[in-house]
Amino acid sequence: MKILITGGLGYIGSHLAVKLLQKKYDITIIDNLENSKIDIIKKIKKITGKKVKFHKIDLLDKKKLFLLFKKNNFDTVFHLAGLKSVKESEINPEKYLQGNIVTSINLLDVMIKFNVREIVYSSSATVYGEQKKNVYHERMKTNPTNFYGFTKKAIEDLLIELNTKKMIKYVILRYFNPAGCHKSGLLGDEPNGTANNLFPFILQLIKGKHKKLKIYGSNFKTKDGTGARDYIHIDDLVDAHVKSLKIIKKKKSEILNIGTGKTYTVLEIVKTFQNYLNYNIKYEYFKKRKGDLAIYFNNIKKSKKILNWEAKKNLKDMCSSIYRYGNK
Ligand code: WQD
Repeated sequence: MKILITGGLGYIGSHLAVKLLQKKYDITIIDNLENSKIDIIKKIKKITGKKVKFHKIDLLDKKKLFLLFKKNNFDTVFHLAGLKSVKESEINPEKYLQGNIVTSINLLDVMIKFNVREIVYSSSATVYGEQKKNVYHERMKTNPTNFYGFTKKAIEDLLIELNTKKMIKYVILRYFNPAGCHKSGLLGDEPNGTANNLFPFILQLIKGKHKKLKIYGSNFKTKDGTGARDYIHIDDLVDAHVKSLKIIKKKKSEILNIGTGKTYTVLEIVKTFQNYLNYNIKYEYFKKRKGDLAIYFNNIKKSKKILNWEAKKNLKDMCSSIYRYGNK
């Protein structure tokens, strides 16, 4: 089975590439290096001992993409390439129109031209937006409240339409909050520039890039007033992707939430670093970020049944893997 991973040098893509190589899949990675680094190739090779097939291709460059598909008869595509900052998508929607929508349309157009019909798509719980309940299941009507979430939903809707026309089969994976690093200490979530998300920011703190953590909001309706999210260890998230390779072969396409069904607050995370790793995070409260919800998490029923999978790792595993990576 020949697999293409778009965004394969990114945080999730690189962890997925390692796992698939270790399971002896024939994979090719493309990445435009906008939010990743070329030295990740060496790290994937060091972990797996395998040669990495990589091409620096931006999905906006349709010609290069066409030539890649011409030379390879891919069976399945993991589409992970894309931009993911809620804040940036509101400041620069044009960049997200290009980076998430036009790129995905180019990919789908070339896939169909070369009769590549299977796509596992990296989507996000952000497509749900604000719901009446804080536990999200896949039958809920999506209602994104920011442009990033809108772009993810737009591509989901396109996949659903192309599937009804029997042109594409999909597994859409709606990630909750991926966190953690590879046990080797070689791969982690290190975006270029200052991290917007909580765990990558804590990693930058550990690496001395910042002095303290800004905690956005202290009076949310949660156990300690700070925001609560469904964080899932990158290893569990990647396992769900590998399991999707079996599901994509089935007739019925699926939309699946990928989370743990548990939540942790910002303060619980800070306390875990302090009490479990003896790492003291200095912090200061700031006002809530626009659009930030108090708490939301995943109803794991469907993904557990369809994938025969559930997350195994906990907050301590996530925090210790990040601490190890930060001190490597
Ligand atoms: C988590 C909690 C913040 C940073 C994101 C986006 C999107 C998605 C991942 C892919 C919240 C608090 C955060 C900080 C803080 N990616 N926080 N100080 O907002 O749940 O959603 O999830 O789809 O990028 O949808 O993740 O990590 O930004 O915030 O206090 O410096 O941590 O208020 O309660 P979020 P997050």
